[in-house]
Amino acid sequence: IADLKGGPDEGLDRVGHTVVVEGWVRTVRVQSSVTFIEVNDGSCLSNMQCVVDLDADGYNQVESGLVSTGASLWVQGIVVKSQGSKQKVELKVKKIILVGKSDSSFPIQKKRVSREFLRTKAHLRPRSNTFGAVARVRNALAYATHKFFQENGFVWVSSPIITASDCEGAGEQFCVTTLMPNSQEVSDSPVDAIPKTDDRLIDWSQDFFGKPAFLTVSGQLNAETYATALSDVYTFGPTFRAENSNTSRHLAEFWMIEPELAFADLGDDMACATAYLQYVVRYVLENCKEDMDFFNTWIEKGIIDRLSDVAEKDFVQMTYTEAIDLLKQANKKFEFPVKWGCDLQSEHERFITEEAFAGCPVIIRDYPKDIKAFYMRQNDDGKTVAAMDMLVPRIGELIGGSQREERLEYLETRLDELKLNRDSFWWYLDLRRYGSVPHAGFGLGFERLVQFATGMENIRDVIPFPRTPGSAEF
Ligand code: 4AD
Ligand code: MG
Repeated sequence: IADLKGGPDEGLDRVGHTVVVEGWVRTVRVQSSVTFIEVNDGSCLSNMQCVVDLDADGYNQVESGLVSTGASLWVQGIVVKSQGSKQKVELKVKKIILVGKSDSSFPIQKKRVSREFLRTKAHLRPRSNTFGAVARVRNALAYATHKFFQENGFVWVSSPIITASDCEGAGEQFCVTTLMPNSQEVSDSPVDAIPKTDDRLIDWSQDFFGKPAFLTVSGQLNAETYATALSDVYTFGPTFRAENSNTSRHLAEFWMIEPELAFADLGDDMACATAYLQYVVRYVLENCKEDMDFFNTWIEKGIIDRLSDVAEKDFVQMTYTEAIDLLKQANKKFEFPVKWGCDLQSEHERFITEEAFAGCPVIIRDYPKDIKAFYMRQNDDGKTVAAMDMLVPRIGELIGGSQREERLEYLETRLDELKLNRDSFWWYLDLRRYGSVPHAGFGLGFERLVQFATGMENIRDVIPFPRTPGSAEF
């Protein structure tokens, strides 16, 4: 359907052609001598209106009422100019085959259903307009991400999902356990071998990996090893955090994009983050017009203008110290008091991005070292590190990054201060022993980017199968 209707003539150039459409029924409207069936194939938001009259081959299936919302169809017909005003062309059906009928309990009917309800139907929600559009824009953002980095000479590196390190040092990791049926009770039948109760299991993960292993919270440390060999690299893969936060911007499993730049400082890092964000935003504005119009109308009014600004205007930059001063002078009662050294709370981030600099991404740099991770490069003042966060309206932190501590002595001292075991970072320290270079990188939460680009309010609605506390179905 996208191929047919996506051109500048919206399909008029194909009038008279015979085409086949394969898709799922959105609605059926029966009139005395003709039936209108709206079919969607997921290639775009638009449906194909299929006009079936009494002499179409397969009309009996339509007449029997089996062609209902949710059913799958194979339809062959001639493209004709539409009488209606909703579309330029429609299909005059020659032959119609009901591929799979749909039970009347199909939950995604024409009437609007809530997104909370659709979360309980994650297996069917991609058949709705909103989730179809989100999936296509998410795909475009992933494609644009690879395109941006590839065009700029970065090498994509696959960082591991199972790891023994805790990059962020926040202890929010999922532990990997290797459960085996207790050997004495293993039965020959594969079905019986599936463990049913915990006391039949033994955890042998420590034996398997030789030490406790976790799902990665970030691929950064691994990316650094490749950046200090191949220069500029990036990762793009799933990461995991056992944060017990039930918010509209946290997931237990999310995708992260983590570029790492060699021979680079914090300024280069911020420039890369800005260029990247502007590139992918421009990409979806140019390549996902129909879906973006949909979001602009139904999800966030004005999002197209807002994103167009982001793609063109300079971002605001300030130091953490300046941000604290700004918040102190804000003449506003915050729930969390503002003082130098505190972590910025979402109310603070909202004030900065929504009130102080309405609508514009803001990059805050040089945070106190005590609220940031061990690997960040210490600034000359001894109190701050070369960190940067990019904040955007509604979402808050979209990007977190830093210049890395490339000086061996500083890094060792920092590990000691934080009571982190030097031995477990031996390979990371080696990078500082053998040809250390200034380097910097950042991590961008891909789902937060999808939220930013679509206006979707809840992060659970921009990933196909959200993993959050209490929810891992589907
Ligand atoms: O700020 P974070 O924790 O930074 C890192 O992990 C660094 N190692 C990245 C790097 O420098 N290579 O996370 C980076 C980004 C955040 O800015 C946010 O967008 C996203 O990851 N993020 C989450 N997204 C969804 N759900 C969560 N629970 C998230 N936690 C972080
Ligand atoms: Mg962060």
